[in-house]
Amino acid sequence: MQVKHLLHLAAAQAACAQSLTEVLSSQNSTLSTLIGLLQAQPDLVTALSGLKGITILAPSNDAFTTLLSDPTVASMVESDPTIVPALLSYHVINGTFYASDLTAGPGPVFVPTLLADKNYSTVEGGQRVEVRSDGMGVSIFTGGGAESKVTKADLNFTSGTIHIIDKVLTIPANLTSVLMSSPDLSSLTGAVTKANLAQTLSDVPQLTIFAPNNAAFEAISDVAAGLTVEQLTAVLGYHAIAGAVVYSTDITTTTMNVKTVEGSEVMVRVEDGNVMVNDAKVIMPNILIKNGVVHVIDGVLIPEDLSGSPTPSAGPSTTTSGTPMSPTSSVVTGAAAAKGQFAGVAVVLGGLSIILNL
Ligand SMILES: *[C@@H]1O[C@H](CO)[C@@H](O)[C@H](O)[C@H]1NC(C)=O
Ligand SMILES: *[C@@H]1O[C@H](CO)[C@@H](O)[C@H](O)[C@H]1NC(C)=O
Ligand SMILES: *[C@@H]1O[C@H](CO)[C@@H](O)[C@H](O)[C@H]1NC(C)=O
Ligand SMILES: *[C@@H]1O[C@H](CO)[C@@H](O)[C@H](O)[C@H]1NC(C)=O
Ligand SMILES: *[C@@H]1O[C@H](CO)[C@@H](O)[C@H](O)[C@H]1NC(C)=O
Repeated sequence: MQVKHLLHLAAAQAACAQSLTEVLSSQNSTLSTLIGLLQAQPDLVTALSGLKGITILAPSNDAFTTLLSDPTVASMVESDPTIVPALLSYHVINGTFYASDLTAGPGPVFVPTLLADKNYSTVEGGQRVEVRSDGMGVSIFTGGGAESKVTKADLNFTSGTIHIIDKVLTIPANLTSVLMSSPDLSSLTGAVTKANLAQTLSDVPQLTIFAPNNAAFEAISDVAAGLTVEQLTAVLGYHAIAGAVVYSTDITTTTMNVKTVEGSEVMVRVEDGNVMVNDAKVIMPNILIKNGVVHVIDGVLIPEDLSGSPTPSAGPSTTTSGTPMSPTSSVVTGAAAAKGQFAGVAVVLGGLSIILNL
């Protein structure tokens, strides 16, 4: 390409480039609520103006009307002045993504936003939004699985672009709230409560949780014996990765051994198109939470120390040392759980049904 042509193009673009406020004002009939909210946050506008390469997801007036018609939300916004700036910063993506970039790839993309206020998110690099395209349009998925559709894309301004969306994004809630509001995770919620782990897990700044659904817990409910709170804690810790937020898109067909809070490793990979952790399948990936992400799985993962399977010959116990080990841990799924193959597990986990009131 000719330099002269490029220069000409650059000059033309510079001449056309409008400031953020100019572009927003040009859409006043749709975005006046957002404009009003931004005017009340001069610090945020100043910060935004200094940034290069951002994407603003701009909720329409209707989107704000719907949100604020919820009296709970309205009173929260009223009582806590930190909510609006946090919410607005969640609507700013760090990076310029034109509609063509968002519709390009297969599968979801997890893009970082400017939401970094520790009271709202501790995810390193800014809380993420999940962007998906069905080839026709682009949707943004946020807390509680809320879907916001892009209704008008590529309103370009000097340091990025704006997409108008039809629903205000939801800042992901903390782990406890997410568990409590998920009926299919009530057994896990009960277990976390019994082990008194809710606060501990919420305090981890970067967290990935593999969350067995109720059916997974039911599958081990008929085995009888005792499980101490200590053992339950170990089992639950084996479902948590601290220090890394692993989205499904980070997992490939190459097996990764990841150290869990319990101390030993789980084996994650994509197999036959499914995201797997040990022998459990991820059945609902990427539930965003304040400090990371939750993936719902179809089996309870049992750390090797509890599963009663023989220790690998060369493998010293790694529970505290963190030395890499071969992840031969078992997962208990379906009816197989109670069978002889899992005898060791069964003995250890027998009490779970009692503890969980299944
Ligand atoms: C933008 O729209 C709002 C609400 O419809 C209206 O009150 C305001 O005057 C408009 N501002 C401009 C600059 O057109
Ligand atoms: C945007 O991301 C880059 C790294 O990709 C980082 O250096 C920068 O601090 C981020 N900006 C903000 C405002 O978070
Ligand atoms: C976070 O919350 C604490 C306690 O409510 C408050 O003291 C602090 O100022 C908040 N931090 C920010 C950045 O808003
Ligand atoms: C904004 O910029 C992108 C990338 O250069 C371009 O594809 C798009 O057409 C532009 N949008 C408008 C409305 O000019
Ligand atoms: C989680 O969020 C709820 C609702 O905002 C709050 O009441 C609760 O204290 C939080 N729990 C933790 C452990 O942070």
